[in-house]
Amino acid sequence: MTHDKIAMFGTGHLASYVVPGLLRGVEPDRVLLSPRSLQTSRKLALQYDLEVAADNATLVERSTVVLLAVRPFQIEEACAGLPWREDQLVISLCAGVPLETLLNHIAGPRIVRSIPVTAAKFGASPTILFPDDMAAREVIGHWGPVVATDDEAQFESMAVAATFFGWLQKLTGVFHAEIVGSGVPNDSARLLVSQMMAAAGTAVREQPDIDIDDLVQDLCLPGSYTGHGLDVLLEANAFEPWKDAYEAVLAKANSTAD
Ligand SMILES: NC(=O)c1ccc[n+]([C@@H]2O[C@H](COP(=O)([O-])OP(=O)(O)OC[C@H]3O[C@@H](n4cnc5c(N)ncnc54)[C@H](OP(=O)(O)O)[C@@H]3O)[C@@H](O)[C@H]2O)c1
Repeated sequence: MTHDKIAMFGTGHLASYVVPGLLRGVEPDRVLLSPRSLQTSRKLALQYDLEVAADNATLVERSTVVLLAVRPFQIEEACAGLPWREDQLVISLCAGVPLETLLNHIAGPRIVRSIPVTAAKFGASPTILFPDDMAAREVIGHWGPVVATDDEAQFESMAVAATFFGWLQKLTGVFHAEIVGSGVPNDSARLLVSQMMAAAGTAVREQPDIDIDDLVQDLCLPGSYTGHGLDVLLEANAFEPWKDAYEAVLAKANSTAD
């Protein structure tokens, strides 16, 4: 029996995205699932030909890397009394749970924190990591580009930024509805708005030496439609609520971590 598995500890909503993401670069026989919750665990096992551990102790015993994805309040009960070892790496995906808290519940292994978004399933999740760790990068790199930091406060700020992922999809939906409403077929509109969102990201990523405001200004030539629409947005203070939303989530995250 091999003991070099990558364990998925907690098979809920997040696991149903990160497991297929992991399988983009890892053979199914290296992945071991925790038995709970039984329904998702069995579904994932059947869908991807994966093994389910008999119990959490077996899961930990047979693994070198453990992806921890239980709810924060479940960590203590889930992790207590398990056969943790010093040669293991635990990658906690639990949002808002500081390293210090994790160390109180998991004695022995090296522990890092990471937050992917569900686009991990498609290898497209910008995935944050604290602290930086080569072995962790090898695992989570299958989910998408890794953004690492050795500063836990920076990690929390970036974890909150992961909420943009949902908000940007909402915005994409608004444009999609407008375009469909003007008579464009659904699939054309969907391809257009999704790729436009990706194109905006690519333009920002690929021109790191140019200030983002300058990139926008470059599109707002006199008389341009982009500039005209941007004036309407600025007149309505349309970007302020986005900043308010970020700050509200950051404050909530900081108060939970206290
Ligand atoms: N969902 C996301 O998009 C997302 C994104 C970033 C980070 N996260 C983080 O990921 C973690 C999981 O979130 P989630 O949304 O996937 O929650 P979830 O759907 O509730 O999944 C948690 C899973 O852990 C299982 N579990 C609980 N106690 C266990 C135990 N003692 N042994 C084995 N398994 C146990 C639960 O089983 P039962 O159902 O039987 O309780 C459930 O299957 C959270 O800490 C969250 O902060 C989630």
